[in-house]
Amino acid sequence: MHGFIVLELEKFIMTQYGFTAWNAISKQANAAEISIDANQVYPDAMVFSLVNEAVAYTQTEPDTFLEKFGIALVPNLLKVYKAYIDPAWKTLDILEYTESTMHHTVRTNNPNVTPPVLEITRRSAKTMEIIYRSKRNIPQLGLGIIKGIAAHFGELPRLYITLTPCADEEAYRFDIELST
Ligand code: HEM
Repeated sequence: MHGFIVLELEKFIMTQYGFTAWNAISKQANAAEISIDANQVYPDAMVFSLVNEAVAYTQTEPDTFLEKFGIALVPNLLKVYKAYIDPAWKTLDILEYTESTMHHTVRTNNPNVTPPVLEITRRSAKTMEIIYRSKRNIPQLGLGIIKGIAAHFGELPRLYITLTPCADEEAYRFDIELST
């Protein structure tokens, strides 16, 4: 996983649960000695150990932890990738162009960084569908990112999202609607 995400995870745990929590969690995950660099790529196993230890330490539901982390990720995600985001875009536009622009750029900049493949269909001005597929299987992080983007634009109270597993394969579908 991209060091940027791992650094954000460290920051999220420290701000939400404190420095002592991060020390204990990183030690349990055998990651205490690792200095995290935003430009490196870290093994997924290490990141999942950190998440699992954080879930155990904070006694949070894994889905809830991932969703909250996804929300917390957004301000810096939008800052770091600002150059690829049209200032006129709002929530549904950012979501519409995530795959073709942001995730695409992330992959092109470093082929070792592998964001999930999102199949995005803008159904109308106010509705869209996103299919998420990843061997990491953490759609709740995506749910948090979507909510965080909507919160950034003040559109969260009008955003309706359902997350459903696809019946026939290891994929998930987000149905998204922005009410007027
Ligand atoms: C501003 C828009 C976005 C940017 C710049 C962005 C960028 C990134 C980056 C850098 C990663 C790390 C990939 C890696 O370490 O291999 C990532 C992962 C991820 N992204 Fe995005 N992303 C954006 C929007 C979204 C949206 C809208 C979703 C909603 C489904 C999403 C879902 C995810 C998930 C779930 C991961 C975790 C890795 C996985 O599941 O395989 N992202 N993204």
